[in-house]
Amino acid sequence: MKTLVTYFSLTGNTQKIAEAIYETLEHDKEIKKIDECSDLDEYTLVFVGFPVHSHSVPFKVEAFLKNIPQGKKIALFSTHGSLTGSQLSREALENAVVLAPKAKVLGSFSCRGKISPEDLEVLIRSPEHAAWAEMAVSARNHPDQNDLDDARAFARWISILYSQPKPF
Ligand SMILES: Cc1cc2nc3c(=O)[nH]c(=O)nc-3n(C[C@H](O)[C@H](O)[C@H](O)COP(=O)(O)O)c2cc1C
Repeated sequence: MKTLVTYFSLTGNTQKIAEAIYETLEHDKEIKKIDECSDLDEYTLVFVGFPVHSHSVPFKVEAFLKNIPQGKKIALFSTHGSLTGSQLSREALENAVVLAPKAKVLGSFSCRGKISPEDLEVLIRSPEHAAWAEMAVSARNHPDQNDLDDARAFARWISILYSQPKPF
């Protein structure tokens, strides 16, 4: 059993979550940026993380998900500026599941991630981004310690599911 934690992160939020997940895993493991991954054969479980971009999955991650081989067990995680639990934050994870039709998705996790005030100012004025960008003002301290603790709990939960003969 070898686990891969792979992620795409532009400004470091998703990377922090990826590292918290990686540190929690107890078995043989590796952590890599998504563009450093080529072959998934040696991994029996793959955590895939990304920031939500334009309500969905960034292109690089989309390409990665589409190439996941038949039956590979995966767990998804994302960071986003919009409110936790909002439709805006959920739909990207839903899209990610659809993009990996051959994978066996064990679960998913998401939390908020800050965006710089300068970028936010521009995005709030764009019709395409205004809805989530207005919510993202209050994401300024995320991911915080609680988010990292939650990501660790998610990693433990996925490890338990993974080792069950029949995941429930
Ligand atoms: C170009 C761009 C588009 C984004 N689109 C969304 C979005 O549609 N919904 C959302 O909730 N957050 C959106 N965000 C916010 C990021 O998902 C959030 O800040 C994330 O934590 C960034 O992660 P990273 O530091 O790993 O790159 C966007 C950020 C950028 C820069």
